[in-house]
Amino acid sequence: MTHFRAHILGAAAGGGLPQWNCGCENCNLARRGAIPPQTQSSVAFTANGTDWAILNASPDIGAQLAATPSLHPTGLRDLPLVSVLLTNGDIDHVAGLLTLREKQPFTLHATAGIHEVLGRNPIFSALDPEHVTRSTVALDRPAQIAPGLTATLFAVPGKVPLYLEEGEVKTDLLGDQTVGVHLSGGGCEAFYIPGCASFPDDLRDRLDGADLVFFDGTLWRDDEMVRAGLGQKTGKRMGHMSMSGPDGSIAAFEGLDIGRRVFVHMNNTNPVLRPESDERAAAQAAGWTIGQDGMEIIP
Ligand code: MLT
Ligand code: MN
Ligand code: ZN
Repeated sequence: MTHFRAHILGAAAGGGLPQWNCGCENCNLARRGAIPPQTQSSVAFTANGTDWAILNASPDIGAQLAATPSLHPTGLRDLPLVSVLLTNGDIDHVAGLLTLREKQPFTLHATAGIHEVLGRNPIFSALDPEHVTRSTVALDRPAQIAPGLTATLFAVPGKVPLYLEEGEVKTDLLGDQTVGVHLSGGGCEAFYIPGCASFPDDLRDRLDGADLVFFDGTLWRDDEMVRAGLGQKTGKRMGHMSMSGPDGSIAAFEGLDIGRRVFVHMNNTNPVLRPESDERAAAQAAGWTIGQDGMEIIP
């Protein structure tokens, strides 16, 4: 019997839905309650049904934990949360660490490159080493992140965090600053890849046969933010492949044998966030689930 469960704490990309300063159609609909709001990027996993690892610590983590009974304290300072794992150093994935500073023991897993980014910023020393163990995870080597649950990190194309960009930015670097995660345990082989700039053949081979894949759903189309009048940035420039089009993730996943494929890390401009949109219907017709806050997936 499997005890594997994945719980989407936040299905949106950085900014969330609605984003505080955004007057786009989706953000306005969410503010009026016409479409469900979504918090920022994080998914919790368990292999034994009791102990949980959280992948990425979003700025919304306080509200996310409060909304998730399986992560509530079980005693005065006893918590089902045993670890946090980071897939990059972006603000939407690390700012929540500052909320977790209350002398609560847990292990913080990340690559050397991501730990180095945190180490350069003294505000993260608020995570007292007496309570929070920083574990450096090498690429392609399984690490236990919760009882019965291993995580193997692997490089996926991406870029340095926005706040570290300098000069000409390479948006599809392969290294230890942007990683995907292969989760194994509790009768399930799952992947969590909230940021990915392109889809190399070895990634395709890796994902084939998985029970469950959470994948970067930032934009529907590459120039979506430009067309909405929200700036000059394309998805490619942000280090994210889009859902639609010949180079998009929907096409890239075609023909793969995957039990369940779920989009996460959706930007607030993405039309799939509107339940009645044609784009959402198209993604679903291609076999995708559009992730949303509070969604629990038992493959
Ligand atoms: C991203 O996923 O592109 C980043 O989270 C953007 C940001 O830092 O807001
Ligand atoms: Mn992000
Ligand atoms: Zn918006």
